[in-house]
Amino acid sequence: MIAPRRLHRAGGALLAVFVAVHVANHLAALAGVESHVRVMDAARRVYRQPVVEAVLLLCVVLQAASGLRMLWAGRQRRRGVLPWLQAASGAYVALFLAIHVVAVLAGRAGGLDTNFYFAAAGLHVWPSVLFFVPYYFLAVAALFVHLGCALRRGRAVVAGFSAVGVVVAGLIVATLMGNVVPVEIPAKYLQTFARG
Ligand code: HEM
Repeated sequence: MIAPRRLHRAGGALLAVFVAVHVANHLAALAGVESHVRVMDAARRVYRQPVVEAVLLLCVVLQAASGLRMLWAGRQRRRGVLPWLQAASGAYVALFLAIHVVAVLAGRAGGLDTNFYFAAAGLHVWPSVLFFVPYYFLAVAALFVHLGCALRRGRAVVAGFSAVGVVVAGLIVATLMGNVVPVEIPAKYLQTFARG
């Protein structure tokens, strides 16, 4: 059997390619929602291929499972700030991914195009915004912290990655909220959050 750490590093490298495109896709919204949609249409031609998507989703499951296994197995010998920061950021990314991927697949099964508006709708409805702002912000910030720790190049590198993560997370969340470019959420996405 492959050791969890090897699996985590190999799967993480594959997943990082998708995540880099995915985060860049969200940053494209800084130039307007149409830019976000154009980038997503192009990227989907690759990651929505059934074989590619199956491998991507398998990587997500293996990444979370191997990470949580290491988190638990090393709980008594983990010493110092960086190992704990790596463990805590990884645990949050695993929790986020479980909710995020299920939400995306459920949205698609419900007939929604899971585009910018799908991601942004919750940030335009009260009180859901109270959940979605920290949920998305922490996901992007934790991802950068986790990658910074994984490089094992010391505190300065982790601090640099964390600072970039906080800025990128702030920009993505502000854009989703409509604070950077105008955002008009179509009614069908807002209805998902309607009460009663
Ligand atoms: C603010 C941050 C984020 C937002 C707004 C967001 C939004 C979205 C949206 C709208 C989709 C659907 C894409 C499509 O239909 O083509 C999606 C899919 C996905 N996202 Fe994110 N995402 C964010 C961060 C992340 C992060 C940090 C990760 C990984 C650590 C991630 C992993 C995924 C995965 C694995 C999918 C499924 C791709 C698929 O099979 O179609 N996302 N996300």
